[in-house]
Amino acid sequence: MATLIAPSLLAADFGNLERDCKMVNSSRADWFHIDIMDGVFVPNISFGMPVLKAIAKHATKPLDVHLMIVDPDRYIDTFSELGSEILTIHYEACTHLHRNLQAIKAKGMKAGVALNPHTPVSLLEPIIKEIDVVCLMSVNPGFGGQSFIESTYEKVRELKAIILKKGTGTLIEIDGGVTDKNASQLIEAGADVLVAGSYVFSAANPVENIAELKK
Ligand code: DX5
Ligand code: ZN
Repeated sequence: MATLIAPSLLAADFGNLERDCKMVNSSRADWFHIDIMDGVFVPNISFGMPVLKAIAKHATKPLDVHLMIVDPDRYIDTFSELGSEILTIHYEACTHLHRNLQAIKAKGMKAGVALNPHTPVSLLEPIIKEIDVVCLMSVNPGFGGQSFIESTYEKVRELKAIILKKGTGTLIEIDGGVTDKNASQLIEAGADVLVAGSYVFSAANPVENIAELKK
């Protein structure tokens, strides 16, 4: 499968959101990655429903919504109504992860689980069949523009082995510090989806940088 590229709108220019959404539409990107932060699960607040609604109005590609919030189950219906195609919740934020994944899928969305850098991938083995996308955080969640944590490669390899052993079609997504410098190594290790914020939006030519990741 060709690697999927998901530009993170957290690094977009919010004064020119329509322009930046259209740039992603016209590029070789596959998904829009949308980071929702509540200032509790992570030490930052990004944006909420009205901004997601504005993005959804212009986006012509699937919305990959990454919830960095406590008790994400309270908002599953809302994010479904706003047009999320993939809804990712954090392992560390869920007491009843299995139940929450069922609730996401009952709404017709793909279910994602994100893991903080310190959380071992082996914890997902018992429920890997229920997960469409595992989002491995390659930075501590909360901010764009941080440097890539090198131990992520090993986690990708371990997770890939679990997925192959269990025979699920679960995708591995990498989020944080992704650039043209680590993309090919990540793909080699088993990554299927690359999220990139600063590498795309701080580029002189974002469409070109997306194409760079795509190849
Ligand atoms: C971090 C977010 C990421 C972030 C990635 O908490 O989940 O999606 O936007 O940004 P870069 O690519 O700049 O590390
Ligand atoms: Zn994210």
